[in-house]
Amino acid sequence: MGRLATIAGPVMLLLLCTMCTQALGIKDGLLPNGNFERGPLPSQLQGTRVVGSSTAIPSWTTSGFVEYIPSGKKQGDMLLVVPEGAYAVRLGNDASIRQRLRGAAAGHRYSLTFSAARTCAQAEQLNVSASGQSGILAMQTMYSSNGWDSYAWAWVADADEVEVVIHNPGVTEDPACGPLIDSVAIKTLNPPRRTNKNLVKNGDFEEGPYIIPGTKCGVLIPSLTVDDHSPLPGWMVESLKAIKYIDGESFAVPRGRRAVELLAGRESAVAQVIKTVPGRRYALSFTVGDASNACRGSLMVEAYAGRESTKVAYESEGKGGVPKRAVMPFRAASARTRVVFFSSFYSTRSDDLSSLCGPVLDDVAVVSVRAKRG
Ligand SMILES: *[C@@H]1O[C@H](CO)[C@@H](O)[C@H](O)[C@H]1NC(C)=O
Repeated sequence: MGRLATIAGPVMLLLLCTMCTQALGIKDGLLPNGNFERGPLPSQLQGTRVVGSSTAIPSWTTSGFVEYIPSGKKQGDMLLVVPEGAYAVRLGNDASIRQRLRGAAAGHRYSLTFSAARTCAQAEQLNVSASGQSGILAMQTMYSSNGWDSYAWAWVADADEVEVVIHNPGVTEDPACGPLIDSVAIKTLNPPRRTNKNLVKNGDFEEGPYIIPGTKCGVLIPSLTVDDHSPLPGWMVESLKAIKYIDGESFAVPRGRRAVELLAGRESAVAQVIKTVPGRRYALSFTVGDASNACRGSLMVEAYAGRESTKVAYESEGKGGVPKRAVMPFRAASARTRVVFFSSFYSTRSDDLSSLCGPVLDDVAVVSVRAKRG
């Protein structure tokens, strides 16, 4: 044992140092010129369209119909608002923006956060890719009234250099039609760990995508994000619509600094498969609250663990009321038990009927309730 420890010590130190220098390579937060405040030279613009060079926007490479949009620009009778700073880009027909980043650690998971807004009436989607992996994110509406939302997507780096690409694969009659993009940020995700006590990984939702400070709109975790592409380690978003990842700076959060808001009724569920022993008894516990975002009325969270389920009602005044802790005992039917949460119905904010909202879920735990000695 003693000898092993003396050998393991320096090896561990070496390993840790390799990891720390690599971790220093990619810093959590906005990418270089991630908010597009530095723009093309006047000679590289034709109106708002970026022309002439694919590297006209500092730190980025562009292709296709890309526009450089100043805040307050009018489109028809619509005023384009930019969430951060004074500029954003618009990805028109088959347009993409890309940036190469060094210092990633192969095998580590990273999550990309960016803000996007639709500008035309049709359905718009973005293809986000990095390290040979990609995901299609639908620009869903109804989450915020100003049209902007933040989205997250995650991938596993395959080398120390990664190229992140945001691409609008759409081709429409009006080549300028397409989403506006702003505030592109990155975060290294730490692998979720289950503790001796709690079988649920990342049950307090503290580990998750970067939330752009001051955006006050949280981050949407898109639907059908599983495994490596989930920016919420341990969890997957099932079904059709997104859930929202929220922070204590802009919202009420029952415990810690982060939580999730279940904002699309039965159409958005957050789930995790946990390891269980068939026949053994467990207790699923979780906390329900409201985000202090004017989501008023009777809210209801449904929870499922294996064959058991429960409904937890929460009367919300929309001001971040006293959170409610719920416990549901269940007996595992198999070696894997799926734990699922969703909101029973849709709600909208009382101060803004066009924005969906819902109950907040936090602090999920599953413990074995088999009697133990000592
Ligand atoms: C998204 O982009 C990636 C990388 O360019 C590509 O391999 C993939 O086929 C695209 N997906 C769709 C659905 O267009």
